[in-house]
Amino acid sequence: MRRKLIAGNWKMNGSLAANGNLLASIKAGLPGSACDVAVCVPAVYLAQTQSELSGSKIAWGGQDVSAHESGAYTGEVSATMLRDVGCRYVIVGHSERRSYHNESDEVVARKALRAAASGLTPIICVGESLEERESGETDEVVARQIDAVLAVMDEESLKGVVVAYEPVWAIGTGKTATPQMAQDVHAFLRQRLGAKSVVAGEKVRILYGGSMKPDNAKELLSMPDIDGGLIGGASLKASDFLAIVNAA
Ligand code: PGA
Repeated sequence: MRRKLIAGNWKMNGSLAANGNLLASIKAGLPGSACDVAVCVPAVYLAQTQSELSGSKIAWGGQDVSAHESGAYTGEVSATMLRDVGCRYVIVGHSERRSYHNESDEVVARKALRAAASGLTPIICVGESLEERESGETDEVVARQIDAVLAVMDEESLKGVVVAYEPVWAIGTGKTATPQMAQDVHAFLRQRLGAKSVVAGEKVRILYGGSMKPDNAKELLSMPDIDGGLIGGASLKASDFLAIVNAA
């Protein structure tokens, strides 16, 4: 059995004061037998998050990582730095980075590899645009995105990654993939992982992301290949985030 993971993606939101309240409320409301829970916060707030969450059951992570180890890369944050502030996870290849920062499949794969090599768990995002879905290219697009990762990772690193299927048309739009639509893509991705490594196919958690909310979480999370959620908007409100954790 794969243990479910609910990860918040705060994106570019928050302040010292707001984060303090949000983290305290999540900590206080976390059910005893919760699934794995994490928050991925803006890099400048990782130290704050570490001091608020140390000793709790909630893990934390970054939202991006450099493909390079260290050196003259102004503005970038390395995997080692993320580890230094206690991160367990890092989101890699979110569609907002792919589209606003022109991150190619190859760059995303290198970032995932660097994260894994440093002991982080990369949450590798894949997903199609509305246009791609409507022209029947969903499988082709997510295959291309995941294959770039499979091409650079050995079985040992691959077993430790998390994949997030996030249809671009569902992100922040209030439109969710139906549980069956999501399940179909998750099963396809699992088969792809399994073709490279049987163990990875069985072990890798595949999260769904894209307008997951308290009222649709249970149905999505009950599908056999949906192993958790990557939560944007709803992770900024403690009661919504906790309701999703409770549904997992
Ligand atoms: P959303 O974002 O839950 O606000 O749709 C999900 C994500 O972008 O990770």
